[in-house]
Amino acid sequence: MKARSKAQVIIGNWKMNKTIAEAKAFVAGLEPVAAKCSAVVGLAVPFTALSAVAAEAHRSKILVGAQNVSEADNGALTGEISSRMIKDAGAAFALVGHSERRRDFHEQDVQVNLKVKRLLAVGLRPVLCIGETLAQRESGAAHEVLAKQLHAGLNGVTAEQVAGMIIAYEPVWAIGTSKAATPADVQEAHAFIRSEIVAGWGKEAADGVVLQYGGSVAPHNAAGLLSQPDVDGLLVGGASLSLESFIEIVEKN
Ligand code: PGA
Repeated sequence: MKARSKAQVIIGNWKMNKTIAEAKAFVAGLEPVAAKCSAVVGLAVPFTALSAVAAEAHRSKILVGAQNVSEADNGALTGEISSRMIKDAGAAFALVGHSERRRDFHEQDVQVNLKVKRLLAVGLRPVLCIGETLAQRESGAAHEVLAKQLHAGLNGVTAEQVAGMIIAYEPVWAIGTSKAATPADVQEAHAFIRSEIVAGWGKEAADGVVLQYGGSVAPHNAAGLLSQPDVDGLLVGGASLSLESFIEIVEKN
């Protein structure tokens, strides 16, 4: 197999889990593993733990990020958190457009696009999540949905910016279901996404962008997924809550 030209990026998405103390203990346990791992290891943590985790991970290789960000810069938006605020708290990246945000909080592509741009404007790395539902897949619309979410999410984003981003392919039917997509299905979807990026932003952007897979990633399926040529990393939900299982996944790189 041809040597990879860039490090794979494996991010744990804790969703609405972990207190500050739990988060700090996890990072302390992950640090020695991340230090000797060839992949870049990251954690998308709750806002409340961001600052503490960033301080804990300060001298380590672990990337720390948020799970969401406001599409606005500031103002009378009770309960919202801006890109400048998460940067100030120590974030290096943020997830945008996770399917739980799209489904449960009715986030639309236009908002997702504004969030991507807010992050880029302050020098943070967006992790843009896209993926089809089971009904969309079964009706043969998966590519159409992926292309729409990709192009809408990246509307107005430059090729140079795309090259530094992470796109996470997360089929909705695979999230939290223990039914991960097969490595062959993931490779097929990633090759399609990369070809769309070539068409829209050029080859350099497509070579630079990191394409992660997410959806029921676990220690038993991580190696098969990571071995696919167009899989540049993983976004891990449930299996990132336990230090042992997350380390097992990271060590599959
Ligand atoms: P899961 O979640 O690994 O629990 O399926 C992945 C995600 O939602 O990012």
